[in-house]
Amino acid sequence: MSESAKLSFKGQDYEFPVITGTENESAIDIAKLRATSGLITLDPGYKNTGATTSAITFLDGEEGILRYRGYRIEDLAEKSTFLEVSYLLIYGELPTQAQYEDFSKEITHHTLVHEDIKKILEGFPSNAHPMGVLSSMICALTAFYPDSLNPNRSEEEVNLSIIRLIAKMPTFATWAYKNEMGHPVNYPDNSLDYCSNFLKMMFALPAEKYDVDPIVSAALDKLLILHADHEQNCSTSTVRIVGSSQASIYASISAGINALWGPLHGGANQSVIEMLEAIKADGGDAKKYLDKAKDKNDPFRLMGFGHRVYKNFDPRAKIIKKAADDVLAKLGVNDPVLDIAKELEHAALNDQYFIDRQLYPNVDFYSGIIYRALGIPTDMFTVMFALGRLPGWIAQWKEMRENGEPIGRPRQVYTGANERDYVSMNKR
Ligand code: MLT
Repeated sequence: MSESAKLSFKGQDYEFPVITGTENESAIDIAKLRATSGLITLDPGYKNTGATTSAITFLDGEEGILRYRGYRIEDLAEKSTFLEVSYLLIYGELPTQAQYEDFSKEITHHTLVHEDIKKILEGFPSNAHPMGVLSSMICALTAFYPDSLNPNRSEEEVNLSIIRLIAKMPTFATWAYKNEMGHPVNYPDNSLDYCSNFLKMMFALPAEKYDVDPIVSAALDKLLILHADHEQNCSTSTVRIVGSSQASIYASISAGINALWGPLHGGANQSVIEMLEAIKADGGDAKKYLDKAKDKNDPFRLMGFGHRVYKNFDPRAKIIKKAADDVLAKLGVNDPVLDIAKELEHAALNDQYFIDRQLYPNVDFYSGIIYRALGIPTDMFTVMFALGRLPGWIAQWKEMRENGEPIGRPRQVYTGANERDYVSMNKR
């Protein structure tokens, strides 16, 4: 017999079905709560609210488990490639050799963007944050491919939009950076793999020869895999809710980029390095800042420590820490900011105060460090996160569409003024 949960309110009993997922997580299905009892639930931040059922990513915050479509993140990071993981997330299965080749070929074929998008880029001041530029250019695709506005497009047309997004994102991301630097943009080099092409567009200058470092390219590929999906986080929920209104896929992804931008979400990796630089500028005394972090009257907050859903450790951080150590050793990076990071990391892992509060270094802490070591400028860190998260957003948008999910429309408990009469201005 299926389980149910009972609610008593004002002498009435109500019963709601309990649904159980494939990993035995249970949820009370309250879809009929308001209709039967007149009540709604109140859950600011949605920490106890499942917005959907999803077959894409499984995450167990207590045990530190993360799986894409059932595959362990540890295995994918070690054995797979970012494009293979993108295919897995979006289409549900690992691709065969032939499927992988087709997918990669299609993506490579669509890397160029319409020349007129350059005019949009040129309209931005050079101090524009690249996240704002990126989200604007992605949204501009609605104008260049207006068919995307039709909610009843064929699967084939939807698929073409998906390919275009993955193909053009590195072009847009690097163009946002070039605009900031005042350098001419580079065009894609379709003889290169996804990450090498990104690096070349990002760093090559017309005046100098640029060779992609395979160590950097491999490290970047791993980082993108680790960021590719994270179930119903803020930006993914944004993509799903915008998409639920049947807005274009490009508009939905653009909204996800904006949600990711904030320092409490993807912007945290930028905040980590800014914090480390501030500590260095103040004499580099990590201990002083650890004490500040412990002092509840001090507004200072350690960035890149702890996680909303992982209670003991972030499995991505474990993988990325090892990758960071390898890359720093291989590239022979010597950077005082990274020394401060090591001190903070050591303290957080050994000091009872941080252990008790589950303030262990998270994925943003190590990704900031590794991006810096790879030569990526600080304000591009969140753009790198967006590049990695793109296939996850797309997979979640596609699932929302295929499930025929209704428009997202939360309710509220109103706490404002009761009905009152309008007071004319001369009587206020
Ligand atoms: C993410 O990867 O999206 C972040 O860790 C944030 C989250 O899951 O809430």
